[in-house]
Amino acid sequence: MRAVLNTLVDELTRLKASGVKTVSVSDESLAALKSALRRRFQNSPAPAQPAAGLPQHSAKDNPPIAAILGTPTTPPIASPGERRQSVEPKKTEARKLPPPAPFALPAGDKAARWNWLLERVLNDPVCKANVRPGKKAVLGVGSLEAKIMFVGEAPGAEEEIQGEPFVGPAGQLLTRMIVATGLKREEVYIGNIMNWRPQLPLGADGQQYGNREPTEEEMTYCLPFLRAQIEIVQPAVIVAMGATASKGLLGFRSFKTLGEIRGRWHDYLGTPLRVTYHPSYLLRKESESKLSEKKAKRAAWEDFLVIMEKAGMPISEKQRGYFL
Ligand code: URA
Repeated sequence: MRAVLNTLVDELTRLKASGVKTVSVSDESLAALKSALRRRFQNSPAPAQPAAGLPQHSAKDNPPIAAILGTPTTPPIASPGERRQSVEPKKTEARKLPPPAPFALPAGDKAARWNWLLERVLNDPVCKANVRPGKKAVLGVGSLEAKIMFVGEAPGAEEEIQGEPFVGPAGQLLTRMIVATGLKREEVYIGNIMNWRPQLPLGADGQQYGNREPTEEEMTYCLPFLRAQIEIVQPAVIVAMGATASKGLLGFRSFKTLGEIRGRWHDYLGTPLRVTYHPSYLLRKESESKLSEKKAKRAAWEDFLVIMEKAGMPISEKQRGYFL
């Protein structure tokens, strides 16, 4: 029974870290759990505490909580940008950071300056200290001649493995939306506010489950690297996807809800900036209902139409009608 309870606690911790606030529990499971706990506390001495940091058991030896408690009410693994409505930002694993070290891009062509910046980020001691062993820091990707630069929040599980932004589920949706504009993914530039995946406590298997919103300090540290990418690419339009990208680019306390800043043009150091939804938000809408998926995707698509216009792209009647 102890192993089962340990599994239960581990799984609940993992779900909580991934943004789940509630799990549904059947009456029978609850009754079984209560009687098991009652038996345990009546019959057995308190168990010794395990040494800090040592896993008490292997998760694979025990059944998953879903089998014990039923289905979680939200999906277990969230992408960056997905969890804001349901969970407070978690600050537990964020390190104390020094202020960003000032730097200036060298003279040269775009490719030379971008390569210099990549080296700078990969060798940055703070970036290195925040990237887990075997994982990668992430700069942007795409065309240095891009007219449109998309900015997201932070690398997630897939991105820190591949060292490329937006390659997980949110990235696949973003890529489909880019293709719907008539562009290829390689023809735009895609970056993030953060260059590393904000850390959460690891699960018993040594993996990080879920993502947390970066702290203001973390964002402040990484922002000069994003600014340098904007300086190199010089896009015609910047697209801030979601609240974190918008906070980083427009100011940490410049708005309360995305609705306040969506639907109009902003200026980022002389470049027009448009705010749209983060693709992870659209993914969550997909799992809610067909209607909310269509509404949210149409709203995001309307942002894309305005962005295409600003970037001087042709728009067909068919494109105007998407998601209607
Ligand atoms: N992947 C990224 O690279 N950034 C995000 O904001 C979300 C997923």
